[in-house]
Amino acid sequence: MREREPEFRFAAEEHHVPVWDLGVRFFHWALVILVTAAVVTIKMDKLNLHVWCGYGVLGLLIFRILWGFIGGTHARFASFIAGPGKVFAYMKGMFSREGHESGLGHNPMGALSVLAMMLVLLFQAVSGLFTNDEDFAFEGPLYKWAGNSLSTTLTSLHRLNQWAIYILVALHILAILFYAVYHRDNLVKPMLNGYRKVTGRASEEMQASRHGNTALAVVLLAIAAAVVYFLVNAVKLTGGN
Ligand code: HEM
Ligand code: HEM
Repeated sequence: MREREPEFRFAAEEHHVPVWDLGVRFFHWALVILVTAAVVTIKMDKLNLHVWCGYGVLGLLIFRILWGFIGGTHARFASFIAGPGKVFAYMKGMFSREGHESGLGHNPMGALSVLAMMLVLLFQAVSGLFTNDEDFAFEGPLYKWAGNSLSTTLTSLHRLNQWAIYILVALHILAILFYAVYHRDNLVKPMLNGYRKVTGRASEEMQASRHGNTALAVVLLAIAAAVVYFLVNAVKLTGGN
């Protein structure tokens, strides 16, 4: 008769599951650098540099939106966008240490905050295209499409929206600290090396998890850069001056 395999062999099994592919990691850390640089440069009155950082953020966001459809398993929006039912269920169990399962990719709450951050940053970058500085020494590349009055409104909203960015980024960093301290779950490491270490039996979800194709990510980055180039030059290209 065959002997049964002892349970502890499964319990000790360790898996390195691919979670954040190079596309997501590049997007994330480049976003951190460029958003920080956009804020620092404008506070130092370096408008030219500020605008370039803004274009960079816009390009990254366009890339991330495309990557959300054809990137790796956990990069896809379909894998992490959750309805209110799942979000509330997750919130209820958030403080329980025993039953806590943070999952492989974004948890339902994390997904919500990530989407909110992407939306406010997209608004910031797009509104930037229509801005003017108060004395009209600078006009954003799409200023002419908006006209004086709408441009001035969008500039005010652009200034106001900075507070939404600060609040969401602060909550984001606090949430990561909370996971590290309360749940002893280091979320930063997978955002650096791409893999999540999981012990125990490999679930179907773990086995199905894949990183996206890096060559495809490079092509999408080039497409995103081209879209930004056309947006920035759209007034000229469509016969404006
Ligand atoms: C300007 C500051 C920051 C912004 C705008 C930002 C934005 C974001 C965004 C948009 C995502 C989603 C990534 C994706 O799905 O593509 C994300 C995830 C993440 N960020 Fe940040 N981030 C910032 C700062 C930081 C810092 C300083 C850290 C580390 C200390 C960090 C650690 C992480 C981690 C670990 C995740 C993955 C969370 C998870 O496992 O669900 N972020 N961040
Ligand atoms: C997501 C990227 C961006 C971020 C995070 C950002 C952030 C900011 C912040 C925080 C301010 C307010 C500064 C203050 O209150 O003193 C500001 C103002 C401004 N930004 Fe941006 N911005 C971004 C993109 C852009 C882009 C793409 C453009 C233009 C193409 C732009 C043009 C301006 C202008 C003209 C002002 C107003 C300057 C003034 O008041 O005279 N920004 N931005």
